[in-house]
Amino acid sequence: MWLVTTFLLMAVTQTHADYSSLQAVLSQKGLQKVSHWMTDWLQNEMSKITLPDVSGSVDIFLGLVHYVLHDMHVVRCDLPEPSVAFSEGTGVSLQVNGLSLAINGLWNTQFGIIHDSGWFDLAIYTINFNTLLEFQSTEEHLSISSVMCSADVGSVQVHFHGGASFFFQPFVEKFSGRIKNMIQERICPGFQEGIENIDKDLAASDNIKMDPYVYLNVSLTDSPAVFDNGFELYIKGEFYSLSSPSEPPFSPNHFELPWKADYMLSVGMSEFCVNSAAFAYLNSGVLNITITDDMIPKSSPIHLNTSQFGSLIPQLPKLYPDMEMEVVLYASDTPLISLNQTVINVNLSASAKFYAVKTNTDLVPLFRLDMQYSFNAKVRIDDQLLKGVLELNNLTIVLGSTEIDKFDTTPFQTMVKLALNSFVLPKLNAQLKEGLPLPRVKGFSLTNSVMTIENGFLVVATDISSPFDFLQSDKL
Ligand SMILES: *[C@@H]1O[C@H](CO)[C@@H](O)[C@H](O)[C@H]1NC(C)=O
Ligand SMILES: *[C@@H]1O[C@H](CO)[C@@H](O)[C@H](O)[C@H]1NC(C)=O
Ligand SMILES: *[C@@H]1O[C@H](CO)[C@@H](O)[C@H](O)[C@H]1NC(C)=O
Ligand SMILES: *[C@@H]1O[C@H](CO)[C@@H](O)[C@H](O)[C@H]1NC(C)=O
Ligand SMILES: *[C@@H]1O[C@H](CO)[C@@H](O)[C@H](O)[C@H]1NC(C)=O
Ligand SMILES: *[C@@H]1O[C@H](CO)[C@@H](O)[C@H](O)[C@H]1NC(C)=O
Repeated sequence: MWLVTTFLLMAVTQTHADYSSLQAVLSQKGLQKVSHWMTDWLQNEMSKITLPDVSGSVDIFLGLVHYVLHDMHVVRCDLPEPSVAFSEGTGVSLQVNGLSLAINGLWNTQFGIIHDSGWFDLAIYTINFNTLLEFQSTEEHLSISSVMCSADVGSVQVHFHGGASFFFQPFVEKFSGRIKNMIQERICPGFQEGIENIDKDLAASDNIKMDPYVYLNVSLTDSPAVFDNGFELYIKGEFYSLSSPSEPPFSPNHFELPWKADYMLSVGMSEFCVNSAAFAYLNSGVLNITITDDMIPKSSPIHLNTSQFGSLIPQLPKLYPDMEMEVVLYASDTPLISLNQTVINVNLSASAKFYAVKTNTDLVPLFRLDMQYSFNAKVRIDDQLLKGVLELNNLTIVLGSTEIDKFDTTPFQTMVKLALNSFVLPKLNAQLKEGLPLPRVKGFSLTNSVMTIENGFLVVATDISSPFDFLQSDKL
């Protein structure tokens, strides 16, 4: 019996595994781009290599000359574009052939009581560098480590300047071997230090603050998958309210991202991800606005005024003659969004609480209307703009509560429907027809993007460009 129970328990816990609501795949084409951007970073890491002093002595028959080579630093690093490839099941292999470094430093000698000093420059050619990076999920975040690294240094040239530097030149052979080994020993640790810093940054970012109201949990639900042509991340992808984070009353839906190798990046977002955003905004109290009469254009035929509302609610002007009104409009339930092959369906529950304004601080509650909206949206990305059409599917308005007796809400429903269909939606649709710009993240922009709506999720496949692109094309 216990066996059956255990088995059932296992089955239950397995079905309750966290589905990822956000999935992203970087393709080979995307990796090429990332490595192009990484060239600058790598160059910078190589330039930060610190070299210890080299000291020793040279026997010149008359006695020993003690020397110190010190304050060595990399002044120039020439890095050819690395070649990168996915290593299935592990991560990415990176290979650099023909890296060169220029190093400057100072020298001091002591021969008895005679001190001398000067400077030198050192050129190191044909450094080959080879590493394998492993991607893993550690404590639910992406971790990256260098599991293999090798470097070999081709040739070294040293020139001494200043003081009696002619004296050193014959001993170059002796130094260059030592310096070559020293550099060779420092390339991999230097690179690994850089990778460890990136790894620390990754560990510190399990959520992204989107705006003052919500954050996105980007912890991983599973180990990253490395294929021979791409790298996929499974991200929790749930939005939370910053002020009152809580779990929504609906659960994640499963989906599998159909990604495209001819785009650098494919991102899939499930219905749950989108709906958790709606729930988070609702919890933050953002979907709550107060409408006063001064917000309504003077030219509008309808004003928030008890006399005017007399045609809809006959008893209102009798109870509160000729008073301004105020409306608090808020989302009363989580908006529910469903993604259904080409169409996005949005169901919105909103309430409008009406008040009569006696004085600025004295509001008399009148009644509350509960409204159910259902919209259909068709959206697409065209020319890097988000375009679409929004149409009203269904609208029902009922009287939620009243302090002034019951009244028929059918005229309200007709009026709101008319206002939506003849003013609000045409205006919105005109904007959607022209298109809204796609978001940019830290200067990175999307190019060639396409969006498809699938059953229960949406996919954006895109190329990425950054301001570095044209800086680097200048250099290459
Ligand atoms: C994100 O989700 C993971 C997994 O459910 C959880 O362990 C982690 O605490 C969450 N982080 C935040 C900041 O909500
Ligand atoms: C809307 O905002 C007002 C004032 O900020 C607040 O008193 C009210 O409780 C809010 N209502 C909802 C449903 O969030
Ligand atoms: C209400 O509207 C009527 C005419 O529609 C206008 O005469 C009156 O001044 C308005 N009252 C307030 C308080 O705005
Ligand atoms: C939204 O409401 C319509 C009817 O008003 C219904 O057919 C549809 O299934 C609802 N969609 C969601 C996501 O609840
Ligand atoms: C969405 O699509 C599914 C399957 O294609 C279908 O069963 C469902 O009725 C559709 N829902 C809506 C609101 O159109
Ligand atoms: C609109 O919604 C109401 C209830 O919410 C429902 O009775 C009615 O059938 C819906 N109409 C359409 C066209 O979906």
